[in-house]
Amino acid sequence: MHSTLLLLSLAGISAALPGPRPDDVRSPCPGLNSLANHDICLRSGKGYTVPILTKCLASGFNVGPDFALIVGAAGIGSGKTPLGLTFDLDGLDHHNFIIEDDASLSRADASTGDNHSFNKTIWDTVLNYYTNMSTATIPVAAKAKYNRVTTENKRNPTFSYGPTQFVLSYGETALYLSTMGDPVSGVAPIEYVRSLFEEEKLPYELGWRPPVKQINLNTLGAMIAELNVGNGEVVFEGLILGESSLKAVFRSLDPITGKIIVKIVVCSG
Ligand SMILES: *[C@@H]1O[C@H](CO)[C@@H](O)[C@H](O)[C@H]1NC(C)=O
Ligand SMILES: *[C@@H]1O[C@H](CO)[C@@H](O)[C@H](O)[C@H]1NC(C)=O
Ligand SMILES: *[C@@H]1O[C@H](CO)[C@@H](O)[C@H](O)[C@H]1NC(C)=O
Repeated sequence: MHSTLLLLSLAGISAALPGPRPDDVRSPCPGLNSLANHDICLRSGKGYTVPILTKCLASGFNVGPDFALIVGAAGIGSGKTPLGLTFDLDGLDHHNFIIEDDASLSRADASTGDNHSFNKTIWDTVLNYYTNMSTATIPVAAKAKYNRVTTENKRNPTFSYGPTQFVLSYGETALYLSTMGDPVSGVAPIEYVRSLFEEEKLPYELGWRPPVKQINLNTLGAMIAELNVGNGEVVFEGLILGESSLKAVFRSLDPITGKIIVKIVVCSG
């Protein structure tokens, strides 16, 4: 343990988790919250700009500027200061706007519970798919994700899941497989994934390091398409999964028609 911490500090990495202070704000997105908790992204959760986000997503998760830019632009568009150039993490839980969506992996739907905080009951239904497995994989993650959709579709009378939600709910799964594992193979140790969702903590002590290969629209688009193959969920007619549909949803365009839509959703827990 001591030698691990020593190596981490020699590498300039902090395994300590400062966490949120009383006035700090957080989002429904465990990835962004973890980066803020480690003070890699602004710990306050406030005053994020595109350059700030680009820098901290790159150093924390090796996320490329193409993805950081659209997340940043989407964040600014959803925030409490739409005419400003900044956003706060707690501006990201407007239902069906940015970040927060129905059938999230670890948050309740807005109409059935608290859509902001980690919900263990829901998260356990995802973890159940990984019983006796030490790593998350694309085929199993795909089935766990699809189960969240069918479960909420049955019990949430206002379930909202169109082509945009379809693409982004795959994006949410692709993000945890990529940040905690590998942006190409999607193989991620379960204990890393649990640390991210359950503690919003980057699992440095367990051996995690940011992926060596960059996470960008290209890798995420490819993984979304593979996830869809993994669960066989019927794709909306006309929707082609991949980099361009991912770009479209982050730009508030309908991923099928390319027309502007009002509601957009980004990664949620
Ligand atoms: C989402 O949850 C927050 C509480 O965390 C609540 O204030 C907000 O109204 C909810 N959004 C919707 C649309 O229910
Ligand atoms: C967790 O989610 C379940 C299922 O949506 C819901 O019934 C429960 O109220 C949620 N718990 C909290 C604390 O929001
Ligand atoms: C998990 O492993 C335990 C112990 O080997 C076994 O009893 C159980 O049936 C396994 N569960 C599943 C779902 O494979």
